[in-house]
Amino acid sequence: MKIGILISGRGSNMSAIVEAVQSGLIVASEVAIVISDKTGAEGLLKAKERGIETLTIIKKGRTREEHDAEIISELKKRNVELVCLAGYMRLLSKDFIHAFPNKIINIHPSLLPSFKGLDAQRQAIDYGVKVSGCTVHFVDEALDHGAIILQKAIDIKDDDTAESLSARILEHEHALYVKAVHLIVEGNYAIRGRRVKLL
Ligand code: GRF
Repeated sequence: MKIGILISGRGSNMSAIVEAVQSGLIVASEVAIVISDKTGAEGLLKAKERGIETLTIIKKGRTREEHDAEIISELKKRNVELVCLAGYMRLLSKDFIHAFPNKIINIHPSLLPSFKGLDAQRQAIDYGVKVSGCTVHFVDEALDHGAIILQKAIDIKDDDTAESLSARILEHEHALYVKAVHLIVEGNYAIRGRRVKLL
């Protein structure tokens, strides 16, 4: 299965997926392209170092639909079947969602549906919850909303800050995202409405 990864920044989740594919942990797959919407995103260099083709496609005054159309076309050109959002800081258009039905996934650093959007780890600290974590989910048109594939819960310590919690969640994000990609590539799941059943 050809995988395309969309990033906007650091790209540590992207690197975890690439490493898992290249080491054979995720079988029968290839990361065909890493696309950034930000010029000079740190993750681009990491992808190049691992021999992955990269592209930067900035929005530059276009509508979301026009921007997405260029990205979709580059993904389709490379026969990408699974799109992984890894710190990609944009909502996808309806066209994008329809171009890859149930084949776009995202990772979010909270236990959804709590703490959607930006700064999820800070939101969790500020709210005072005792447990947070990370979620891999299918992407639909609403922010951090699609059906949940996997979640990992992480205890919040009394002295945690947004930074220390983010660092601890991030370690688990990498493992969880790799597990989810593996699951999708193997096809060991069934989607029933919002419920994703692992087979
Ligand atoms: C991660 O915390 C991810 O959950 C969120 O954005 C961050 C991206 O980090 N969506 P990285 O670019 O993968 O290092």
